[in-house]
Amino acid sequence: MKTAITELFGIQHPIIQGGMHYVGFAEMAAAVSNAGGLGIITGLTQKTPELLAKEIARCRDMTDRPFGVNLTFLPTLSAPPYPEYIAAIREGGIKAVETAGRSPEAYMPALKAAGIKVIHKCTSVRHSLKAEKIGCDAVSVDGFECGGHPGEDDIPNMILLPRAADELKIPFVASGGMADGRSLVGALAMGASGMNMGTRFVATKEAPVHDNVKQALVKATELDTVLVMRALRNTERVLRNKGVNELLEIEREKGASLKIDDILDQVAGVYPKVMVDGQMDAGAWSCGMVVGLIHDIPTVKELIDRIMAEAEGIIRQRLTGFLDGEIETQRARAVA
Ligand SMILES: Cc1cc2nc3c(=O)[nH]c(=O)nc-3n(C[C@H](O)[C@H](O)[C@H](O)COP(=O)(O)O)c2cc1C
Repeated sequence: MKTAITELFGIQHPIIQGGMHYVGFAEMAAAVSNAGGLGIITGLTQKTPELLAKEIARCRDMTDRPFGVNLTFLPTLSAPPYPEYIAAIREGGIKAVETAGRSPEAYMPALKAAGIKVIHKCTSVRHSLKAEKIGCDAVSVDGFECGGHPGEDDIPNMILLPRAADELKIPFVASGGMADGRSLVGALAMGASGMNMGTRFVATKEAPVHDNVKQALVKATELDTVLVMRALRNTERVLRNKGVNELLEIEREKGASLKIDDILDQVAGVYPKVMVDGQMDAGAWSCGMVVGLIHDIPTVKELIDRIMAEAEGIIRQRLTGFLDGEIETQRARAVA
């Protein structure tokens, strides 16, 4: 399949693996790129720019296909040394960067001077238009369903994607709630040129996380995620667990007066506990509603091949079947 996104990033399939803290190591990114998608190393999981340079080199040893790096611009007072991270990205020969969080405007000249294609993750049409204006090459439109930070507007992809299609000139991928061939065809129908997946890629053989995490994803349903930190305007969709229930209790008690310090035990330093040690009750970690569509732990290649085969089947049979007057069957609806 060829789309504006496959052409922009020089990849075989229009599928991107979004940056994921403590998941987006070289093993994850290389597996996605080797399967024909765009794998992404999560820049800030590497504690220094030097460590990021090493992670890029490690990934280079595992794949000769294009892969990218995620740079998340955090709303913190003591910002990480972003210019040094960008230098590591440039010197590592990376040609695709996924930015997220705050606007990448201040860093666009450095990224563009290095010939890097920038795809900015946005949770609204206005932020997407700003990304287009400041020279981003593409946008990842992240709906309310998404794992991680959905912003504060609460617009799901069924509305957000066609709105983005009506306004944007640059290509965009659908992000949030994407899991299978149906997601891809739906996203394409609503104007996207591909899709970005987070949660679905965590439940794969190659994802370098504790097996407890993968089993928890297979077990959970679409009812098991919850929004936290709304009072801080830093809303995050996470998988419900004991630590998260404590967090929700504190949020109920404090109401609008909630401070980040009140919930540090439930949100700070949680990722290594969950992803490395498999402590599933440790606190808040990002997980999308799409968890309800995850029932197995395939290899990344099995997953991507299956998605592309399902998408082709839906387009060639189910959709054209409607035009040809065929009576639909249940089997054609349930592809997963
Ligand atoms: C475990 C996990 C960690 C994540 N960490 C980051 C991150 O550090 N930076 C970022 O930009 N997005 C992060 N995300 C968001 C993903 O890149 C992606 O936008 C999101 O997962 C898409 O929604 P989905 O989970 O429904 O596929 C994370 C998502 C998950 C599931």
